[in-house]
Amino acid sequence: TRVLVLNGPNLNRLGLREPGIYGHTTYADLEKLCVQTGTELGLEVEVRQTNTEGELLGWLHEAADAGIPVVLNPAAWTHTSVAVRDACAMLTGGLVEVHISNVHQREEFRHHSYVSAVATGTIVGLGVQGYVLALRYLAQH
Ligand code: DQA
Repeated sequence: TRVLVLNGPNLNRLGLREPGIYGHTTYADLEKLCVQTGTELGLEVEVRQTNTEGELLGWLHEAADAGIPVVLNPAAWTHTSVAVRDACAMLTGGLVEVHISNVHQREEFRHHSYVSAVATGTIVGLGVQGYVLALRYLAQH
């Protein structure tokens, strides 16, 4: 089974950006972690990141057309984008929303997610381990 792991804006800066909040794991480490976890679970995992909202929408349309399960960290677009939510609503292969930090312990504007209502489930605050748990879930469903 193919799985897309999609990451929104600034996540390419993982390990460099606010390490007190997001940890020291780099984006390259995250890619490796997801691909290795996929190998262990028998999943063909492809990890992508973009700072351009339209590019993410295109990837979500691709996943919708092919019925591919998605792990998505929409990053800041979580809290701003009706377009990302509408694209997520078209997915049929399952969607796990992941946030590295516990958004509920942070600023008020991070408490609302446009995506959560159309996700199969969400994982927040467990660091990059959240991606591993999301992949394990998708492997079993
Ligand atoms: C994030 C949380 C968002 O509020 C923030 O804008 C991010 C990352 C997380 O993984 O904790 O960029 O999605």
